[in-house]
Amino acid sequence: MDQYAVVGNPISHSKSPLIHTLFAKQCSQELEYSKLESPLNGFSDFVNDFFYGNGNYFAESHQGLGKGLNVTVPFKEQAWSLCSQLSDGAKLAGAVNTLYLNDQNKICGENTDGIGLVRDIKNQGISFEGKKILIIGAGGAVRGVLQPILNEMPEKVVVANRTLSKADALVAIFSELGDVSSSGFDQLSEPFDIVINGTSASLGGQLPDISSAIFSSSTIVYDMMYAKALTVFNAWAKEQGVRAVYDGLGMLVEQAAEAFFIWRGIRPKTEEVIQLLREA
Ligand code: ATR
Repeated sequence: MDQYAVVGNPISHSKSPLIHTLFAKQCSQELEYSKLESPLNGFSDFVNDFFYGNGNYFAESHQGLGKGLNVTVPFKEQAWSLCSQLSDGAKLAGAVNTLYLNDQNKICGENTDGIGLVRDIKNQGISFEGKKILIIGAGGAVRGVLQPILNEMPEKVVVANRTLSKADALVAIFSELGDVSSSGFDQLSEPFDIVINGTSASLGGQLPDISSAIFSSSTIVYDMMYAKALTVFNAWAKEQGVRAVYDGLGMLVEQAAEAFFIWRGIRPKTEEVIQLLREA
């Protein structure tokens, strides 16, 4: 049976096997999707064994069956480096979360995170077109979503980061794609239509040190993190009376759906899977 997996380190927390197993069932696809922990210093070798078989990690019976990988922390940049072919979006993202083989059996990479974020927000009936967008953070997660957001023709995108130089560096990469500028936290003093938190602050239960002036009663807020309860960022935004808050669970399922489409040519329905994960 065709083999797919998510590879990371650590990996035990991953919801990807559940999501892809639900997709496969829904789309009547015969495949197996597992989670794999690659050694921190052997990622390239691990991936090559998965696709081509060199006997270092996988049994002989696996040979020829490895069809696709999702890649998560901390390997997305390394995965990008080992690809023979990258989509235009992946080139700019500097990281990939989806690997597959092309017709010549070469490893190809795509970054479906940004596509997932944009699709999840659009699923809520929210358009980016002509909107003022604030993205907080300037790490790998934000770099991965900037191109798909700029493709949606917003009026402007401001990338604000605690360390301004990192926001400057990101903006320089994407400046030809639209009106995108950088900002420090203390320069933010006006409301945005859509505010996206792409920092890792929520993971530690922290809030970026930003004025609540970024919110108005019509602001839509999206935290790329997700948690069982409201993330601290979304709880804070709600207290300020914003229109709606969303977390990144939908993005997780949508990025998986795009990877599934790349591998199998079928686009699974996501709504019921998101609902199921939400209730789990
Ligand atoms: P990721 O891959 O999740 O993007 P990263 O590349 O380490 O991780 O980036 C983390 C981002 O979260 C950075 O923008 C970081 O800000 P700095 O560049 O100033 O470090 C941001 N971040 C993390 N904790 C934060 C906090 N408590 N307040 C504000 N920003 C924070």
